[in-house]
Amino acid sequence: MSHSNNWKQYFDQKAEIHGASVKSSDYFDDESFFIQRDNTLRWLGETQGQTILDAGCGVGAFSEPLVQRNTVHGVDFSQKSLEFAAARGLQTSSQDLTGMDFEKNTFDVVLCIGVIQLIENYIPVIQELARVTKPGGTLLIQTLNKGSLQRKLLMLIEKSKKFDQMYSMNELKGVYERFGFEEIEFLKYYHPLKLVTQSDSEGVLSGMLSTSFAIKGRKKRG
Ligand SMILES: C[S@@+](CC[C@H](N)C(=O)[O-])C[C@H]1O[C@@H](n2cnc3c(N)ncnc32)[C@H](O)[C@@H]1O
Repeated sequence: MSHSNNWKQYFDQKAEIHGASVKSSDYFDDESFFIQRDNTLRWLGETQGQTILDAGCGVGAFSEPLVQRNTVHGVDFSQKSLEFAAARGLQTSSQDLTGMDFEKNTFDVVLCIGVIQLIENYIPVIQELARVTKPGGTLLIQTLNKGSLQRKLLMLIEKSKKFDQMYSMNELKGVYERFGFEEIEFLKYYHPLKLVTQSDSEGVLSGMLSTSFAIKGRKKRG
C-alpha cells in the first residue's frame, strides 16, 4: 500500500469516528483549531464573491466561514471527510492534490491547511496549487515549522511521530518564488500560546520559537 493510501484510510477512519468535529482533521483541540483558523482568515483578508479552493479540506471546518460570501470548492481524497465538508456548504470533489481536474488560473484564493506535512514529494503539489491559482490570486499554505525547538524536543521524547515532514519558512519562500509568486509573507503560531506574529521573513528567533506557520503570496500577472 502506498504512503498516500495510508493517509487516505487514516483520515477516512478519523471522519468515521469523529464525524464533523475538527478531531477528524487531527487538531489538538477546538481551542487550538479556532485560534489558527480565526487568525489565518483575518490575515487572508476580506473575501467576497471569490472562487476559493480549500485543497485537502478534510471535513471543511477551516473554510466554512467563507462559504456564505464566496464559492468554496473543497478537494480531498478522503470520501468520508468530504461528506461533512459538503454539509458545511463546500462544493466537494474527491481528487488527489498531485493532479486535479481544474483548469489553470481558476481560483482567486487557494488554501492548503495542514496538508503538506503529510506529503513527502510536496513540490509537485505546490506546483499544482500554483497552476490553478489565478494571476493576481493568493496561495496560502499552513504547515509545521522545521526550525521549532519545541518540535525538536517533542521528537526526542515521542519517537513515533505522526507527521513526517516539516518545512522551513525560507524553503517554502523559495518554492513560492520559483512558481511565480511575489509579496510573500508569513504568519507564525506559537502553540500552546495564543500568540501569532506576522512578517515577510523567517527571522532567527521566531524561526526557532514558532511551532507552525502560514505562508501567503500573490501570483504574478503576465
Ligand atoms: C490534517 S487534515 C487538514 C484538513 C483541513 N485542511 C483542516 O485544516 O481542517 C489533512 C487533510 O489532507 C488530506 N490529504 C492529504 N494528502 C492528500 C492528497 N494527496 N490529496 C488529497 N487530499 C489529501 C487528508 O485526507 C486530510 O483530510
